[in-house]
Amino acid sequence: MELKLGLIGYPVKHSLSPWIHNRLMERATIAGDYSVIEIGPNDSFEEKLEHMKDSGMTGFNITVPYKKKIIPYLNQLDNNARLIGAVNTVVNKNGEWIGYNTDGTGYVTGLKNNYPNLFGDATRILLIGAGGAARGIYHGLISEGFKCIDLANRTTSSAEKIAELRNSDTKTSILTLKDAEETINDYDLIIQTTSVGMKPEAEKRIISAASVNPNSVVSDIVYQPIETRFLADAKKAGASIHYGHTMLLYQAQYAFELWTGKKTPVDNMESQLKTVLEGR
Ligand code: ATR
Repeated sequence: MELKLGLIGYPVKHSLSPWIHNRLMERATIAGDYSVIEIGPNDSFEEKLEHMKDSGMTGFNITVPYKKKIIPYLNQLDNNARLIGAVNTVVNKNGEWIGYNTDGTGYVTGLKNNYPNLFGDATRILLIGAGGAARGIYHGLISEGFKCIDLANRTTSSAEKIAELRNSDTKTSILTLKDAEETINDYDLIIQTTSVGMKPEAEKRIISAASVNPNSVVSDIVYQPIETRFLADAKKAGASIHYGHTMLLYQAQYAFELWTGKKTPVDNMESQLKTVLEGR
């Protein structure tokens, strides 16, 4: 089998996905290619996709801003991707494109590998943000059995929409960002899912994490810079830190499994990826 893989998005030139998937191919001893396909605002999305369909790709990843836009072009949608309303991985099965979302499970796996002690019914979680990433992570956390997940967002109505994914066991309150900052000390796990604090605006932070509980874990899905201002605040307050590149790595591992049918180990890659990011 020779894999023909790729990534669509904009901008994607500096993506780390080729770095990850080239290593996964090496580890799995499968030959192939992972190409970056930038679809700019002046390109025709339809034409690019037609070209990809003709070229017979094994599958591809989708990143910002196309995770929703891809959906009408797919032949089938996996149940999780339907609930999340976004697709980050497409598998070509006999010419049919099937859409999946591996972001939420990728996030949860990264968290479990680093902080297994958090996994239990009683863990109180604060999820900040209400975009596509927040939706995938909220769904992933519920699927894992977490029961207490509050949502904070600048626009509270978007958080309310995400909370519709909850099941009868889930307790979710909706908070403003101001509420979240004031009550941050009540949580065992705080997850920042917006792009606030990403380079080149690394001086920004969604809220202050200065008063977090020192026994808590604070997580940011932004990985450029690897240590965001939000994480730096939390570290200073004595909390444990969970870095954003782990989600990137494990969502890729799940995507690769969907394309190849087998799980390829990623041991050492968390620290290697962190080193790559620190050098940027
Ligand atoms: P993605 O799909 O990548 O998660 P998105 O759908 O654009 O991204 O969602 C962005 C999230 O970041 C939203 O929660 C957004 O808040 P709103 O729902 O109020 O728009 C949040 N966000 C982005 N910039 C923000 C800012 N400067 N301050 C506060 N929240 C911000």
